[in-house]
Amino acid sequence: MDSQVSVVIIAFLCILGTNADTPCAARPIAGKSVVCVCNATYCDTVNRETPAPGKYVLYVSSQSGLRFNKSSDFLKPLNKTEVECSTATLLLHPETTYQTIEGFGGAATDAAGINWRNLSEPLQKRLIDSYFSDTGLQYSMIRVPIGGTDFSTHAYAYNELPINDTKLTNFSLSYEDYQYKIPMIKASMQASSTPIHVIATTWSPPPWMKTNNAYTGYSRLKPEYYQTYADYYYKFIEKYTGAGIPIWGITTTNEPTSGLIGFCNSINCLGWTAANMGNWIVNNLGPTIRNSTFKDLKILIGDDQRLTIPYWTNLMVVENPKVLSYVDGVAVHYYTDFIAPASILTEVSKFYPDKFIIATEGCEGTFWKEQHHVDLGSWLRAKKYITDIIIDMNHNLVGWIDWNMCLNIHGGPTYIGNFADSPIIVFPETGTFVKQPMFYAMGHFSKFVPRGSRRIKVTHKCRWGKSVWNVAFITPSNTVVVVLYNDGKAGTVNLQLGDKQAVIAMEAHSAATIEIPYEQ
Ligand SMILES: *[C@@H]1O[C@H](CO)[C@@H](O)[C@H](O)[C@H]1NC(C)=O
Ligand SMILES: *[C@@H]1O[C@H](CO)[C@@H](O)[C@H](O)[C@H]1NC(C)=O
Ligand SMILES: *[C@@H]1O[C@H](CO)[C@@H](O)[C@H](O)[C@H]1NC(C)=O
Ligand SMILES: *[C@@H]1O[C@H](CO)[C@@H](O)[C@H](O)[C@H]1NC(C)=O
Ligand SMILES: *[C@@H]1O[C@H](CO)[C@@H](O)[C@H](O)[C@H]1NC(C)=O
Ligand SMILES: *[C@@H]1O[C@H](CO)[C@@H](O)[C@H](O)[C@H]1NC(C)=O
Ligand SMILES: *[C@@H]1O[C@H](CO)[C@@H](O)[C@H](O)[C@H]1NC(C)=O
Repeated sequence: MDSQVSVVIIAFLCILGTNADTPCAARPIAGKSVVCVCNATYCDTVNRETPAPGKYVLYVSSQSGLRFNKSSDFLKPLNKTEVECSTATLLLHPETTYQTIEGFGGAATDAAGINWRNLSEPLQKRLIDSYFSDTGLQYSMIRVPIGGTDFSTHAYAYNELPINDTKLTNFSLSYEDYQYKIPMIKASMQASSTPIHVIATTWSPPPWMKTNNAYTGYSRLKPEYYQTYADYYYKFIEKYTGAGIPIWGITTTNEPTSGLIGFCNSINCLGWTAANMGNWIVNNLGPTIRNSTFKDLKILIGDDQRLTIPYWTNLMVVENPKVLSYVDGVAVHYYTDFIAPASILTEVSKFYPDKFIIATEGCEGTFWKEQHHVDLGSWLRAKKYITDIIIDMNHNLVGWIDWNMCLNIHGGPTYIGNFADSPIIVFPETGTFVKQPMFYAMGHFSKFVPRGSRRIKVTHKCRWGKSVWNVAFITPSNTVVVVLYNDGKAGTVNLQLGDKQAVIAMEAHSAATIEIPYEQ
């Protein structure tokens, strides 16, 4: 072979071998941070590097504009003479493990699908790859609404007509399923190298099943339709499975507390008392699912704010202990986390150690008092995501699913005007979308903590550590992954693993994921 040609080939292989990342095309936003701009021909990527023996790999994102900035260095021997507590020191204990991770992901709402389909095909692929591929965030979960939500262009459910149709003779999927949700989920499944676990949820069944005959507002399921509502779930699962999308889990109605107290005058909802829901699960939903070909899918109760979780677990079990034989876990939402202590979550794992807890919805920018539904480039919102996920993981959650995977610049579409923020904002008119800091916040976990990882024990040695948020895992490939958030000024974090340490310099307001080989 011509030597020049072989040099070229070798050089080319070397480039491949180093898994070159495509850097963020950063657009600074004054007073915030940067967003990364993607178009049909350019979009930033990141590869997860296997750390070489004796070395660690570090990925940093920061308010100053770093995005998965990758570097690698040698682990150092522990230095016993070093002054204790000149730095934050975290001791990693992979021999003590806690919950097993199920995954991270986002929601394929109508709004997400509408925004996605409004991009050119190459750009649609960039968006899906950004979330699901090996050069993206490697999401492994998707939540899909059964029917419409507030992030739709109108209120709808399946089998709206004929009314009082106990047998659901006219159940068919909607335009939105075929045009938006199914294509988006299938593209995600194709882009991912791990199976995507899909969780399906109903906001409101058709109004005729409800006491108030409406999509929104104070309501209950009419007792004569308890079995019909269980069959409604079953039919959805059957249709999606038939369309090539297996359903991994269901929740037993989105935010049932809202309809219970009537706190949903505009959002599609269905109210339940814990006692009635327990009866429905034991007499209708549970037997329907467990006697079907879908008997192994996960049944999750709650699917509501952290504050309400004791109501949905303890009271339901008190009223109807048999519910425990049908329920696999508890789903929690993000929106009241700032007032609800995370110890609520620990109570669940204490009382029901064989049930898992998973976060199924969260987003920023929803509350009326917020000036910006979409706050382009906000680092504060990335920080809220990261610290919330760290707290949740440290309280035994097995996963964390974000809300709309992409929205437009207004934070919609939403037919009731419940605009919100999203990690990806689309700009179809310029053929671009931008990845916000929240996107990287999700990725610091989703990309490096694959399904089957287990959280491990971390102990702290030094005071500065108080502004260093942290959580650590051991992965199926026997590496230790640590996620850090430095909320304070710049400083050094010492990660001690056995007789070695990784010394990490962290700038202010930055997140870091560190992957270290675990050599026993
Ligand atoms: C796409 O983005 C890249 C990087 O920012 C830029 O160089 C290129 O000109 C853009 N392409 C178009 C068509 O705008
Ligand atoms: C990573 O950050 C350092 C400075 O913090 C910078 O010199 C380097 O260029 C960055 N690398 C990339 C790929 O952005
Ligand atoms: C240990 O730390 C001390 C104080 O920082 C330093 O003087 C010494 O060189 C270090 N020894 C090694 C082996 O790194
Ligand atoms: C079945 O549902 C469709 C809407 O999906 C509706 O147009 C049609 O009238 C319904 N059929 C009956 C018999 O109610
Ligand atoms: C539907 O059922 C309700 C009672 O739940 C009844 O009042 C109504 O007349 C029924 N409508 C039809 C068209 O069957
Ligand atoms: C299956 O259905 C039968 C009859 O309805 C019921 O008695 C039984 O409990 C169901 N099995 C499960 C696992 O729910
Ligand atoms: C699609 O994008 C165009 C701009 O290119 C915009 O005018 C239109 O409203 C968008 N459609 C939807 C359904 O968002």
